[in-house]
Amino acid sequence: MIPPIKNMQDAFSLKGKNAVITGGNRGLGLAIASAMAQSGANVAILCRDRAKAAEALAELEPYGGKYMSFDCDVTDLKSVIALADQVTEEFGPTDILVNNAGVSCVNELLDMDEELSDWYKVLNTDLNGTVHMTYAFGKKMRDAGNGGCIINTTSNAAFIVNKTQAMSPYSSAKAAANHFTHCMAVELGKYNIRVNAIAPGFTNTELSKWIPKDQFDYINNQMPLGRFGEPIEIGALAVYLASPAAAQITGTVTVIDGGYILSC
Ligand SMILES: NC(=O)c1ccc[n+]([C@@H]2O[C@H](COP(=O)([O-])OP(=O)(O)OC[C@H]3O[C@@H](n4cnc5c(N)ncnc54)[C@H](OP(=O)(O)O)[C@@H]3O)[C@@H](O)[C@H]2O)c1
Repeated sequence: MIPPIKNMQDAFSLKGKNAVITGGNRGLGLAIASAMAQSGANVAILCRDRAKAAEALAELEPYGGKYMSFDCDVTDLKSVIALADQVTEEFGPTDILVNNAGVSCVNELLDMDEELSDWYKVLNTDLNGTVHMTYAFGKKMRDAGNGGCIINTTSNAAFIVNKTQAMSPYSSAKAAANHFTHCMAVELGKYNIRVNAIAPGFTNTELSKWIPKDQFDYINNQMPLGRFGEPIEIGALAVYLASPAAAQITGTVTVIDGGYILSC
């Protein structure tokens, strides 16, 4: 069993914990990496773009922990299994795994090519990538016997259908990742590994800068809280879910979208 907190001192601290974050080199992944580093965690960033990873590590450096990056393609199960060995050896045992890497596409199913490339690309990254990482790093966490925590970054798109942008692969992958979260919470509970998901909505990242102004204004108007989310708010939620304060929380999907899915 995971012991409950006794008081609020250090209840939100990740001091000395090792966090492995896919897609931690930019966007929401970097915000989660930064929030966890500021909360005392060591961070390993797993991604494909080495230059962006180097920039991200430089951003984390002032926080004074151990920060490393590793080449990773979450779609490739064999390399992910090998990477779990490498990360454990070079970075240390994983306490926190954040499955954040994700891609999207806008295309209606009937307009896709005959290989359904868009479908498989998104499913292989957003769903299978999460499964691959959970398999490889989950085994390491189980075998180390220290418990731990897995956080999957899904999306509020798992709950709604975006009428203006056809995103069936993305919505389907994220909905499946949410239920995978539930299943893993039940399977891994006996190893003291908690599994939760964060489902962000529209958040101010590089991507959101490309949303046409009329759509941007429309979305803001639809939101009960009247604005896009900020990456640091996703980071703060991830820190909470990974912290001792959340010791009794598993199998949850927390939507963090300013109330958008309730009113869109
Ligand atoms: N931004 C939003 O408003 C929003 C809303 C809801 C949900 N989300 C979810 O939040 C997560 C992060 O989104 P974001 O907006 O920060 O996206 P982003 O800026 O496009 O970053 C995507 C990240 O995923 C990594 N990645 C993609 N494919 C990969 C692969 N095959 N192997 C390893 N890493 C891979 C990328 O790194 P490399 O290219 O270097 O590999 C990058 O770090 C995603 O799961 C996304 O679906 C975002």
